[in-house]
Amino acid sequence: MLQPFQSNTIIEPFRIRTVEPIRFTSMAHREDFLKKAGYNPFLLKAEDVLIDLLTDSGTGALSSHQMGSMISSDESYAGSSSFYKLEAAVRDVMGFKYVIPTHQGRAAENILFSRLARPDDIIPSNGHFDTTRAHIEYAGAVAVDLPCATLKAGPFNGNMNTDALEKLIMEEGKEKIPVIMMTITNNTGGGQPVSMSNLQKVSAIASKYGIPFFIDACRFAENAWFIKTREKGYEETLPIDIAREIFSLADGCTMSAKKDGMSNMGGFLALNDEKLAQSCKSLGILTEGFSTYGGMAGYDMETVAIGLYESLEEDYLRYRIGSLQYIGKKLNECGIPLIYPVGGHAIYLDAGQILTHVPPLQYPGWSFNVALYLLGGVRGCEIGSVMFGSQPDGTEKPASHELVRLAFPRRVYTQSHADYLIEVILSAYEQRKKLGGYRIIEEQPVLRHFSCKLLPL
Ligand code: F0G
Repeated sequence: MLQPFQSNTIIEPFRIRTVEPIRFTSMAHREDFLKKAGYNPFLLKAEDVLIDLLTDSGTGALSSHQMGSMISSDESYAGSSSFYKLEAAVRDVMGFKYVIPTHQGRAAENILFSRLARPDDIIPSNGHFDTTRAHIEYAGAVAVDLPCATLKAGPFNGNMNTDALEKLIMEEGKEKIPVIMMTITNNTGGGQPVSMSNLQKVSAIASKYGIPFFIDACRFAENAWFIKTREKGYEETLPIDIAREIFSLADGCTMSAKKDGMSNMGGFLALNDEKLAQSCKSLGILTEGFSTYGGMAGYDMETVAIGLYESLEEDYLRYRIGSLQYIGKKLNECGIPLIYPVGGHAIYLDAGQILTHVPPLQYPGWSFNVALYLLGGVRGCEIGSVMFGSQPDGTEKPASHELVRLAFPRRVYTQSHADYLIEVILSAYEQRKKLGGYRIIEEQPVLRHFSCKLLPL
């Protein structure tokens, strides 16, 4: 009798029928590309990048099912059947009554906060993403992060500090808090997940004080997988049912469908309150387009309607999270400083710990990220003092961390790409003493990391 064997290989749960070539370049070429791009990876041409880990947003591969649906999409201005498919999928997976389509996540945030936030209001979250924070501040309100206190390696480091939440409500008064947000997974906190019990606690606090509770749902499927694999009592629950339970705790959500919507473009605002939905819908018509397309083509709505289910498939999530954990484990075993255990969509290398000889305002994260490109054609993103160091008064202050985020597009890279990436990181780490700092020679007053030019010191 043959015994079944336990495979140690992460088998991608798909086979590849359409391929997109990636281009090999020499280190001399990459040095030249970098010089021309002012040593800013954002300014590189994508064709000059071998493995592009700049973001997991809108960069995923579509399935044959999604591609097929695009051909038969309904591009009608009003009443498109593609919209009704999207609406039905959102209602089924998330349970919210009203679905307002938008061209991407931040447009949903803009609509929600334009309607809910007034000057000097306070909007707490476990961790606001930067566009969420920006829209809250644009509405004149204050965005407050209440991450969980324990930053030790735990299973749910994305949790909100619920004691701090209640304290804030008591001190400021519930009238000043028009909505409580939860970002799942917590992107600014290393892509770390939030537990069901933490969501339940936040939901209970929100109902106790009569404050609406909204979820920033971009990576809800990845979060559901962490609940399934880490939280007691959910081992046998399907990810889709975990997702339904998560959303049953909230009054609505904002969604960037470019992540777990498995689409290249799209988003939505979904909610239960009829009056608020009507007012958000009117604003959506003004800024995004008619309420049955809202900035999306019919074929985008088709891909999202299917993608919401595909992102919840167990085989996919096992591969998705498993790939990240595979890389994280190997790097950790080799002593590379990183946020560990890794979160759902990205590896966050701790460049501040790697390049201890480079001071924060010589941008160690930037330096290590550039080194990954030079050595291996890998493009990540600095999350450190270039991104956050510039102050409104024109001065500079070190950021709290000097990280390099390597975010993984969905269904795009294989285990051999992962092995290659590990080799590149190890090589850069071994040669770290040779890496120096940078100085900025040209920058814009806001969001300087997107366009600044630098020179090696
Ligand atoms: N919320 C979170 C948690 C996000 O990560 C993002 C985008 C948004 C909202 C905004 O969505 O881009 O569709 O408007 N994150 C991308 C990233 C850009 O690279 O992390 P969007």
